[in-house]
Parts: sequence; structure tokens; C-alpha cells
Amino acid sequence: MEFKTMQIGEKEAGEIISEIYDNSGYDFFQYSAPSLIRRFQRYIDLKSISSLDELFTLIGSEPEKMNEFIEEITVNVTEMFRDPYFFKIIRQALMTELYDKSPLKIWHAGCSTGEEVYSMAIILKEKNLLKNSIIYATDINQSVLDIAKNGAYSLENINQYEKNYTDSEASENLNAYYEVKNGEVVFNTELREKIIFSTHNLVSDSVFNKFDIIVCRNVLIYFNKELQNTVLQTFYDSLNPDGFLALGSKESLLFSPINQLMDEYNGQFKIWKKKG
Ligand SMILES: C[S@@+](CC[C@H](N)C(=O)[O-])C[C@H]1O[C@@H](n2cnc3c(N)ncnc32)[C@H](O)[C@@H]1O
Repeated sequence: MEFKTMQIGEKEAGEIISEIYDNSGYDFFQYSAPSLIRRFQRYIDLKSISSLDELFTLIGSEPEKMNEFIEEITVNVTEMFRDPYFFKIIRQALMTELYDKSPLKIWHAGCSTGEEVYSMAIILKEKNLLKNSIIYATDINQSVLDIAKNGAYSLENINQYEKNYTDSEASENLNAYYEVKNGEVVFNTELREKIIFSTHNLVSDSVFNKFDIIVCRNVLIYFNKELQNTVLQTFYDSLNPDGFLALGSKESLLFSPINQLMDEYNGQFKIWKKKG
């Protein structure tokens, strides 16, 4: 007889979310249900799990297993200079509105393995702003932050990253910023040491500083509207007057009360500016 893994619907998803909360304190109650259900199902199929009891025994057995499960259900896909024209707009903003800020304070929320924040550091270096910048990069997952801190990535994707970089109106070659060591691309210490990597949970942690730029792309898409609103308010409270908020291509703040308090800077690339 063919072995069947269990099927996850809304009811089962609700029970898993409660179990995660009771066991670890991570709060996924306000994440978008369809996306979480897909991720739960993926894990259950991968581990050939046949019941909720079996799942709960596995993830409850040790904290490592729970962390591994949480990593599996959050989507960590990222790349360097993702949406290259977004970085072109950021280059322009750095040379105009943001040029005189000292220090220039930047927060990458939901930075995943760090490719996006290294892309920002490269642009800052090219505009001679890196030394005056303070960059925080945060994520809910410690393991992606460990990768980000190392700044070492597989060579496999470098051609795509070179292309993205060129499309962002680059002035150098990307290989000016890394060395190849043991089959990996390792970004220069000068970039790495400017970035402060730290865990920060957008659901439960609050404002921790004031910023001139907040980049939070492809994260809100996994939250329901209510949670998006709460997090957008945290971003608003974390911005200096005239500060910039950049969201992902499928994300928006037009539905949120903070829309009244922000000016659209670039509608296509989802960049807003806090009213001064
Ligand atoms: C798809 S990645 C986006 C990476 C990068 N910003 C980009 O656009 O390429 C989403 C990231 O959000 C993080 N994340 C999910 N929920 C979070 C939360 N509550 N607080 C902070 N980060 C969270 C995930 O761990 C993941 O690394």
C-alpha cells in the first residue's frame, strides 16, 4: 500500500501555529494562511509525516528541531541586486535627498542571507557614503543571519548577480568587491564590517533606532493585512523625517493609515518618503 503523508488544511494549520507558539513563543497567527499551509505541507512531505502528533513530537524534541522547522516555513529566497532598477533609483536618491545625512542610517528588515544588504553597501561605497553609514540588517532566523555575517556565497549565482549589478547602472565590475575562495564568493571585509547583523522579529520586537532608509522587501507579502499594518506603523515610527521606506514589488502601503503621512517617491519601485 502506498504511504500517504497527512494533508494540511486550515484547521491543521491553526493547530500547528498554536503548537509553535506554545513551544517556542514564535507568533505566526497573523501570517498569510495559504502560504503557511504550502510551507507546512512541504515540510510534512519532505519528512514523510503522517499525523500532527508525529510532527509535534519531532519539532518538540529539541530546540534545534523547532528552529529548523521555522526556517523551513519562512521563505528565505533572495539575490544580489534583486530588481536591479530598484537599486538604480536608490543610487539616485543617495546622490540627491540623502547625500547630506551624517551618519546615514539604514535598516534592512528581513534581510535573509544578506545579498540585498551587501548590494546596498556596494552602492554606498561607490557613492563615497559607506564610511558615514550605519547599516543594520535583521531577520527572524539566526541561521540565515549566520550566512549573512560570513558574506560568503556559492559561485553558482555570480553570473546572474553580475548581470543584475550591471543593470543597476553600476560603475565598476562586481568582482571588485569579492574574492573567490574555496569555490565561494567572499565579500570584502570593508563591506562586511559596516553591517550590524542581529535577530529582530517584526511581529514581536519594536522600534530600536531611527533610520533614513528602511528596506523591507518581500517580507510583508507573507503577513495578513492586519499584521502588515502593525509592521508598517513600526517602520513609520522608525523613520526620521524625510526618511525612505522601500517595499517589495508586490507590496504596498496604500491601504494603510500611514499612507496619509508618506509621499510616494517611486510608485513603480514601491518607495515612499516620510513627510518632513
Ligand atoms: C523572501 S526573504 C526576503 C529577503 C530580501 N529582503 C529580499 O527581498 O531579497 C523573507 C525574509 O523575511 C524573514 N522573516 C519572516 N518573518 C519575519 C519576521 N516576523 N521578522 C523578521 N523577519 C522575518 C524570513 O526569515 C526571510 O529571511
